[in-house]
Amino acid sequence: MNSRVEHIIREGRFDKERLVELLSCGAEDSKPIFLEAAKVKKKYIGDAVHLRGLIELSNICSKNCLYCGIRRDNKSVKRYSIGINDVEKAIQFAIVNNFGSIVIQSGEITSGLFARQIEQILIKATCMSQGKLGITLSCGEQSKATYERWKIAGAHRYLLRIESSNKKLYYKIHPNNQAHNFENRLQSLTDLQSCGYQTGTGIMIGLPEQSLEDLANDLCFMRELDIDMCGMGPYVEHEQTPLYMLRKHLLPKSERVFLTLKMIALLRIMMKDINIASTTALQAMVDGGREKALRAGANILMPNITPGCFRDDYALYQNKPGTQEEAEDSKINMDALIKRAGCYPAYGEKGNSQHFAQRQILS
Ligand code: 5AD
Ligand code: SF4
Repeated sequence: MNSRVEHIIREGRFDKERLVELLSCGAEDSKPIFLEAAKVKKKYIGDAVHLRGLIELSNICSKNCLYCGIRRDNKSVKRYSIGINDVEKAIQFAIVNNFGSIVIQSGEITSGLFARQIEQILIKATCMSQGKLGITLSCGEQSKATYERWKIAGAHRYLLRIESSNKKLYYKIHPNNQAHNFENRLQSLTDLQSCGYQTGTGIMIGLPEQSLEDLANDLCFMRELDIDMCGMGPYVEHEQTPLYMLRKHLLPKSERVFLTLKMIALLRIMMKDINIASTTALQAMVDGGREKALRAGANILMPNITPGCFRDDYALYQNKPGTQEEAEDSKINMDALIKRAGCYPAYGEKGNSQHFAQRQILS
């Protein structure tokens, strides 16, 4: 065992330099990190895994992120937007199966029509579940007025990944223009917090030209922003995107997976009571990826309940798992994987961020 790693963990002071040290050590030396994360998770979170039924509402997107398979300029994507009847069926599925929460995710559209569509879904979901369903939105950058409107209509939580907190790297993976402005994205995150959302962010791990310093800074960024939730996963290359050109410069998949698990473990140690999602991108990289994330410190799973006929078209990255499965299969799979990770599915619970609740009490 590496006594330096043990020393850092024992002291519990995680500045950037120390985080880089922890991120750079190999599998054997990293064991104390994973042991500590498991201890922290047990104490602050327990073995409950909260479920969020994921509805991929639309793959229509006005943006052109250089890594994403559904970017606007990818003309080979068959675009869809799920109609209200199918959305209602998916919501009903989440209610009947006692999932406790749903996530509505979509490409980024800022039209008034889209704002109204989301508002109607929120009102419907709240009414159908008599307010019992937790509702998370992941619909990109919007005006503060739209965030407020959606909050009033019933949304509790919002996920908006910063993707990378290093502005330079951010512009290597996004076009440098007004639609992809780094400061606007930061502003959106603070707008969400001031609207009273449980606010989540996250990053991609293993991006071309991303350093361990970048990842350490990302962890510090999330702590400084005092987020309530996090969803982070490995970068997975997609051949119909500009970033695919740089695939030769990527870390091997196994290293991206290991780094992702270590990032989850470190974030759990640093932010003990936040919700951390075990993401599908991990599963795309390695069998049992999501299970490993639960063991590393994650406590949220997002079974895909998008109607089967739309699944293949929401391909942010290649080898996305579960695209061929109907919702029922996904639920059975989730139950089994939660059990394998030594946890239990917390059916019927909203699973709000304890960190958020704590802050409300303190303020
Ligand atoms: N690999 C991994 N994650 C991706 N995302 C988009 N494209 C990819 C990719 N190629 C993630 C981004 C985005 C979320 C919806 O999906 O982090 O915020
Ligand atoms: Fe659109 Fe999100 Fe993909 Fe960027 S990452 S192109 S905003 S769906």
